[in-house]
Amino acid sequence: MKKEAIAHPNIAVIKYWGKRDVRLNLPAVSSLSLTLSQFHTHTIVEWGSLRDHFVLNNEEMQDKQAQKVFSFLDRIDPNRPYCKVISDNNFPTAAGLASSASAFAALALAGSAASGQNRSLDEISILARQGSGSACRSLWGGWVEWKKGERSDGLDSHGVQIATKSHWDLRLIVAVVSDKKKLISSTKGMLQTANTSPMYDAWVQTAQEDVNTGRRAILNKDLDALGEAMEHSTLKMYSTMFTTKPAIRYWKPQSIAIMQEVERLRKSEISCWFTMDAGPNVKILCHTKDAEQVAESIGKHTSIVHILEAGGDAVIL
Ligand code: DP6
Repeated sequence: MKKEAIAHPNIAVIKYWGKRDVRLNLPAVSSLSLTLSQFHTHTIVEWGSLRDHFVLNNEEMQDKQAQKVFSFLDRIDPNRPYCKVISDNNFPTAAGLASSASAFAALALAGSAASGQNRSLDEISILARQGSGSACRSLWGGWVEWKKGERSDGLDSHGVQIATKSHWDLRLIVAVVSDKKKLISSTKGMLQTANTSPMYDAWVQTAQEDVNTGRRAILNKDLDALGEAMEHSTLKMYSTMFTTKPAIRYWKPQSIAIMQEVERLRKSEISCWFTMDAGPNVKILCHTKDAEQVAESIGKHTSIVHILEAGGDAVIL
């Protein structure tokens, strides 16, 4: 059977960093995210082929990336036949967003359907989580909470939509500082943090408070409250990265200049707030009416700035 699906990337407003179970990819903390509209991954899975193929953006892949895709299909069915996977991202590397969330969400959706299995969206989110944690949030549009869950089998650790994309008229601005591949992967970074940072326990212990504040702020459409919690969660996550051995430092001088610009804009009464992920690019949340002005100010520090809207659910086509 052949099935195709589309999923969008998401950006965490309250961050996921750290794992309570590496094998099942269970997070040490819950997180909250916003799914984005303009960019997506489109994936076709053909269940039954002469050999395993993985074609990404028109190029046959044979490296570790392909291996990750094939072992992910093994999770759908350990006795699967050879499969063909054709995946395209409509966003350039220079979009400044990681593609693993949309990639594994689309693969989980198309792969489950192609295998003939009838899984619920929660079950597909659980599956996507095992490809890449943040992917479990990309099954839904709008605002999504990923509950860390308590169970050791991970069946209560998946995305839950808390508000749809039309709930709140905001924009997420991505300031691209560098489109180079990250120096250290999130997976590796998280393990190193848990093993060596003295700040890690404090991060885990205080994360739920940020999720609760963030969820309330989203439901009340209170940008200042969400922004404060988002920056706090971001900087706390970074404090664990900075204090690992050896230190993980994704920031570049431009990233700091952009954060300062965001603070300057706030002083001039524009509510805008930053977050960052495992790389030097800065994402800024603001009201739609302010987006052009924020993008223009940020544009003084980098030439690539995208203004993104909230996106919808992942879908089978
Ligand atoms: C900093 O989902 O890429 O972007 O589960 O190891 O694949 P793995 O990690 P991944 O980590 C994302 C980390 C982050 C914060 C976030 O998206 O919540």
